[in-house]
Amino acid sequence: METIKVGLLGLGTVGTGVARIIKENQEDLFKKTGYHIEIKKVLVKNLNKKRNIELSEDIFTDNPLDVIMDKDIQVLIEVMGGIEETKKHIIDAINQGKHIVTANKDLIAISGQELFELADQKKCDLMYEAAVAGAIPIVRALKESLAADDIVEVMGILNGTTNYILSKMTQEGADFADVLKEAQELGYAEADPTSDVEGYDAARKTAILASIAFSSRVTFDDVNVEGITKISARDIAYAKDLGYVIKLLGVAKRENGQIEVRVNPTFIPNNHPLAAVNGVYNAVFVKGKALGDAMFYGRGAGELPTASAVMGDVVEVLRNIRSNSNGRIGCTCYHDKNIKDIND
Ligand code: NDP
Ligand code: HSE
Repeated sequence: METIKVGLLGLGTVGTGVARIIKENQEDLFKKTGYHIEIKKVLVKNLNKKRNIELSEDIFTDNPLDVIMDKDIQVLIEVMGGIEETKKHIIDAINQGKHIVTANKDLIAISGQELFELADQKKCDLMYEAAVAGAIPIVRALKESLAADDIVEVMGILNGTTNYILSKMTQEGADFADVLKEAQELGYAEADPTSDVEGYDAARKTAILASIAFSSRVTFDDVNVEGITKISARDIAYAKDLGYVIKLLGVAKRENGQIEVRVNPTFIPNNHPLAAVNGVYNAVFVKGKALGDAMFYGRGAGELPTASAVMGDVVEVLRNIRSNSNGRIGCTCYHDKNIKDIND
């Protein structure tokens, strides 16, 4: 049986889910890829922390080089988060010829293009399905299934934490701070939940979707952002009285060659499909000239849903290894950026 060795950067919420799927679905993954997957090394910050999964103690390290420089590791799964330090690890790993699977939207939204170009040069895969909308396969849908269409709009609920908070405030009259704490305990929120509640996380995801959908280079800085911190129980009650719910939407539109990208709380009429998207669920609408409208729906955060998307990418990398076709362009981004500032 051929074995592929993988390294994990991080064993928190998502990393634990990834390790669980590798452990529990070994036979099925072998049928689908022809490889046995072995976790050779796991990078963590705190070696003494109690883990929610049993893994051999000798695979843990707090030294990134033990994972990145390990010549046996062919696939690096980055689920630690962070930007600068993590970017350096990924660059070093690609330079070592390793394929990368990441859930890190912060990094992809800022430095995606640079990393894709390097990966392309080195014939390495760089996959990031889990970076947008958790378990929903929206990155692959835009990159592959809908690649031939002229996409004019991508919009939706892209952050599980804020949707969880707004849903509980609407349905149960719950308190903002209490529900945020719950979302953190459930593993939905970012390490610094400011990213969630201020809309930065949804903005990063919107930038990534706009880049793929419009074959353009849209980054986090291009997105006009407003989060949910100013939404009060009174706003929610007011919306309810008028037959609306408040949802945090990410919107990317292309009109007359101009791209508009924004994230903001929006009044949605009760009879609109997005009004029924509650809790940790996300939904993404895509409008294409040939496609018409399509909606994608599923869990936007959490251990196993996110790990499912990460492992889908790992399966694709393994299949590419088998067919010797790694290093296809991760995201075709051209330099035709023409971002419309909605404040203009
Ligand atoms: P966690 O905070 O739960 O886990 C992070 C892991 O990385 C921990 O194991 C931590 O070690 C390790 N780590 C962090 N920084 C370092 C460092 N400097 N050196 C060594 N190890 C480090 O994060 P999540 O699992 O929630 O998220 C991981 C990534 O996935 C992020 O990019 C996030 O945005 C993304 N993501 C998360 C989703 C979710 O639902 N949680 C959904 C989609 C994407 P230790 O355990 O010792 O502290
Ligand atoms: N914090 C993010 C969310 C994780 O709540 O949607 C998934 O990207």
